[in-house]
Amino acid sequence: MLFSLYIIVTVAARTRSLPEIACNRLKIGDNWYDRDTLWANIGRPYNLNVHRGSNSLFFSYSLPETYADVDFQLAYFNIDTREYQTIAGIRGGCSVAIDQMNDEIYLGGSDGIYKYNMLTKLADFYKEKGKNIWSLFYKKNLFYISYPDQKLHIEYDGKFATVKEFENFEIDYFHVSSVNVIYFANKTGLYKYDNEKMEAQVVNELITVRQIVEDNEGDTYIVSNFGIFADGKYDGLKKILDMKNIYGLAFDKDNNFIYSDEKNIIKLVYSLVGCDKKPVHW
Ligand SMILES: *[C@@H]1O[C@H](CO)[C@@H](O)[C@H](O)[C@H]1NC(C)=O
Repeated sequence: MLFSLYIIVTVAARTRSLPEIACNRLKIGDNWYDRDTLWANIGRPYNLNVHRGSNSLFFSYSLPETYADVDFQLAYFNIDTREYQTIAGIRGGCSVAIDQMNDEIYLGGSDGIYKYNMLTKLADFYKEKGKNIWSLFYKKNLFYISYPDQKLHIEYDGKFATVKEFENFEIDYFHVSSVNVIYFANKTGLYKYDNEKMEAQVVNELITVRQIVEDNEGDTYIVSNFGIFADGKYDGLKKILDMKNIYGLAFDKDNNFIYSDEKNIIKLVYSLVGCDKKPVHW
């Protein structure tokens, strides 16, 4: 199948009649991927997170402006069965964090934090009534960032408290990697927090971060307005995809890239053939 597709592409290129048919594959790092659209024509899907146990993608999207009072909404999409549903009952639902080990799915909106029940498919209220939850993150503890003051909170002994180290500046995204590197981003840029020196170190002050996420092998990815950067096996932070309109990124249970642009959610499937060169056996 891939092979015959390649022939069509080659013929089109040779005759120069339809150059825009060209190639629909995407190159990330050194590898090529075919695009498989999971959901098309949806408003700005953000905050992509896969619950690995059920291979379900949880994310937020924007509703048309005519629904002025409910501008954000949460939904899930099962990557295996392609079953999907919007999640009712969370006003302004926009944030997701998953405790993969305990199968806990936390969802946040403009009136607190909820837990998603996979059996009843309902969101049950959890904590922080009256708080506007901008972002959620889980690593051993549950963290949230409040809106509009952009303060980082941690759940400890059943209660939430602000994180002292970060009290004096805004946080828009927070992430702790598998090797305990602390990343955070705000409107000024992307930083790492040095726990020993107790200070923030500039990583990049030119980019606007949209999501920080880890794959199943422990490498960290930063989605920005200048493309995707990766840290880990890539030997320091390195740009692996130069595409400006990526809004979210997650990894399914098989570690496939799932990304969103302004209207679509797309799964990338590894391909042996690329676009700019012939397969080896030719
Ligand atoms: C973002 O964080 C950096 C590093 O801590 C800080 O210097 C900067 O003031 C912060 N920006 C905002 C808007 O709070």
